[in-house]
Amino acid sequence: MAYQKCIKCGSEYGIDEIVYFCKKCEDILEIKFEQGELAEALKDRKWRNTPLSVWRYRPFMPVSVTTKIVTLNEGGTGFHSCKNLAKHVGLRELYVKNEGENPTGSFKDRGMTVGVTKAVELGVKSVICASTGNTSASLAAYAAKAGLQCAVLIPSGKIAYGKLSQAMIYGAKVIQVRGNFDESLDAVLKLSEKHRSIYLLNSINPFRIEGQKSLGYEICDQLNQEAPDRIIVPVGNAGNISAIWKGFSEFNELDLIKTLPKMTGIQASGSAPIAHAIKNGSETIVPVAAPETVATAIRIGAPVSWKKALNAIRDSGGTAETVTDDEILNAQKLLARVEGLFVEPASASSIAGLIKLVENGVIDRDERIVCVTTGHGLKDPDTAVKMSEKPVEVDAEISAIEEALGLKKQVAIMAR
Ligand code: F0G
Repeated sequence: MAYQKCIKCGSEYGIDEIVYFCKKCEDILEIKFEQGELAEALKDRKWRNTPLSVWRYRPFMPVSVTTKIVTLNEGGTGFHSCKNLAKHVGLRELYVKNEGENPTGSFKDRGMTVGVTKAVELGVKSVICASTGNTSASLAAYAAKAGLQCAVLIPSGKIAYGKLSQAMIYGAKVIQVRGNFDESLDAVLKLSEKHRSIYLLNSINPFRIEGQKSLGYEICDQLNQEAPDRIIVPVGNAGNISAIWKGFSEFNELDLIKTLPKMTGIQASGSAPIAHAIKNGSETIVPVAAPETVATAIRIGAPVSWKKALNAIRDSGGTAETVTDDEILNAQKLLARVEGLFVEPASASSIAGLIKLVENGVIDRDERIVCVTTGHGLKDPDTAVKMSEKPVEVDAEISAIEEALGLKKQVAIMAR
């Protein structure tokens, strides 16, 4: 049976124990499987004939076989071969794994379907999280589906409108905290310790990470049982890059893939403690006290899963890079205009990072690369509108519309 294990001192906890930090050394936990447990699960080949989705991988998820899952049909997201962007950047083979195609528009749904299923299995009645927006939208939706009470803490004034509207319409109790994400997370950690009946579903909860590891599994399956050379991922609280690495590592241990990708984390330059630690070769991170970036989803100064992320990046021979707000917004526009993919600014940081790392010569032009875009562009319509050309307003007259479209000039030229 699977169990929970401290990533530092190795202390073990039962799969049904509600514990977020190691009681001995206070580090974070991960889910481990008994020797041979996943290999045994693999023998049941039925899963391979089911469509791509998080629950296709149910045998590799730490929930009981009798549990009724809470699902909105998450996973199975598009794996786009991006030939136009590849040409633009000068690469041979480039894919975008577009997680905005999940039910609430971000990769968080992969973690929430497993996290909320576990919450129901544990018999809890209320759930909580702190969020820069997407986690709260996702938790609110899955809590609604499961009939659980839900509260979300978000930084006041700094979350994108689409995400706020989601949390509100799904019926969560929305608390705006005067402060940033790090302060909100600190508050929910204390709250969930004090009120043990409220189940915490930030990515510190290792069941969330189990759901998100399916992103790694799925990429292998979409590449016909191969790993790419490199995965480029936006990094905020650092759960996702750790989860994707866990997925690839497990498939590698099961011999389903022969190689492992270089995990490459991208952070916004105003919120980049992990990228700085990687660049400085440091064993720990230095939290950023006042993180700032237009990519509000990753405006995080003290990522809770930093140690898992540093391990994933270093163990895989990957790297980390920072990108400026301008680079992020230019990449967002480029992806939309050459590939027809509209992603939110944080998601576009993986594309901005790709461009920078190719220019710096860190990425070889022959590498097979997958960029993960983490959330849908409609999450943050304000930023998209602000950075695009304004619509032209005209009277409902053909000649005015022709003029606005530049058709009058063409007619004049042809008449000459
Ligand atoms: N991209 C998007 C769109 C996100 O919403 C997040 C995280 C990330 C990337 C970074 O992922 O935290 O696992 O490193 N959003 C969280 C939230 C923090 O509250 O929605 P990470």
